[in-house]
Amino acid sequence: YKTYKDGKCEAPVNRKIKKDQAKVADSVDIEDLGDKKVFCRCWKSDSFPYCDGSHNKHNQDACDNVGPLIIKKKEP
Ligand code: FES
Repeated sequence: YKTYKDGKCEAPVNRKIKKDQAKVADSVDIEDLGDKKVFCRCWKSDSFPYCDGSHNKHNQDACDNVGPLIIKKKEP
């Protein structure tokens, strides 16, 4: 992992997604959201920025409790 000048570096949240980039930013047009989209917040998804359920294994392995961001239209 990258270390900073003072030698201190916390474990990265992102361990595999676009590591060749200085910052990972994604953009989705509102018009393309449809009725529902599920976005990954654990950084483990192979379909990032979308959730693929990988948070379940991460939560078991790391005693964590992370989950996705679900964006959906209101029920009529
Ligand atoms: Fe990351 Fe579901 S895979 S939140």
